[in-house]
Amino acid sequence: MSIGKSQGYYAYHSALKNNKVEIYPDISRVDSGRSESFCYDIMEDMTGPLPSEYNGCDVFYIEPPWRAGFQVFNDRVKTTAAHGYSFTDFMRRIAYLILGIDAPVIVVWGKEAKRYLPNTNQTIKAIHNGDPALGYCYNLDKGTYERLFPEIGRDRSSKDIIEILATEFTRAGDFVCGYGNTGRIFRSYGKEFVLSDMNPKCIGYISEHIEVWDESWNNNNTRT
Ligand SMILES: C[S@@+](CC[C@H](N)C(=O)[O-])C[C@H]1O[C@@H](n2cnc3c(N)ncnc32)[C@H](O)[C@@H]1O
Repeated sequence: MSIGKSQGYYAYHSALKNNKVEIYPDISRVDSGRSESFCYDIMEDMTGPLPSEYNGCDVFYIEPPWRAGFQVFNDRVKTTAAHGYSFTDFMRRIAYLILGIDAPVIVVWGKEAKRYLPNTNQTIKAIHNGDPALGYCYNLDKGTYERLFPEIGRDRSSKDIIEILATEFTRAGDFVCGYGNTGRIFRSYGKEFVLSDMNPKCIGYISEHIEVWDESWNNNNTRT
C-alpha cells in the first residue's frame, strides 16, 4: 500500500481568519474528465437526497465544519440556506444524508459529533489540523475496516485516511468539499471524484487548480 506520497503544501479551507477564500472567483461548476465539482448547499432542502451526481460514488469522505467554525463558514457566503439554521440542524442534516447513502462513508469530526451522528462501533483515531478527532465509519464491512485501518490505537492524519481510501475505491464523494483535498488526493491516485460546497469560491479554487491535479497524474504520476 502506497501511503504518504502526496507531499508538499496544499491549501485547506479552514475557518481561520487568514484563510484567503475571497481571492478565488465564484464558479458554479467545473468538470474534468469524469470528475465533477459544483456549488450545492446541503441545507437547501432538509429532507432532500444528495444531487444525482453523487449516485456513482463508491465511497464518501467528509470533514464538516466544527461548532466553532460553523458560523464563520456561513458568513463567507452571502446567500445561503444555511443562514437560517443552527449547528444542531446542520448536524442532523449530515446524519440524515449519511443514512441515505449505501456506499461506505467516513466522517472526520470531533468527539462531540458522536451524539448527533448515527451510531457506529467503527471509528478511526485521527488528527485533524493538529486536533484530536475521530473518523466515524459507516457501511464498511468488518473485513474491509480491519484491513484498511489496522492498529486501532494509531492516530492518522486526514491525508493518510484519504490516501488509504484512494487505494481501495475508485470514485469519492465529498459534499462539504472546501478546497477539494478529497478530490485532489483521489486524482493523485488516478481516481475520480464528485465534490460540492455551498461556497462558490471553493469551486473557484478547484477550477483554478484542477489542471495541476490532472497534470500531476498525467505526467509521470507525481503527486501534488
Ligand atoms: C472544514 S471545511 C472542509 C475542508 C476541506 N476538506 C478542504 O479540503 O479544504 C468545511 C466546509 O463545509 C462547507 N459547508 C458548510 N456548510 C455547508 C452547507 N450548508 N452546504 C455545503 N457546504 C457547507 C464550508 O463552506 C467549508 O468549505
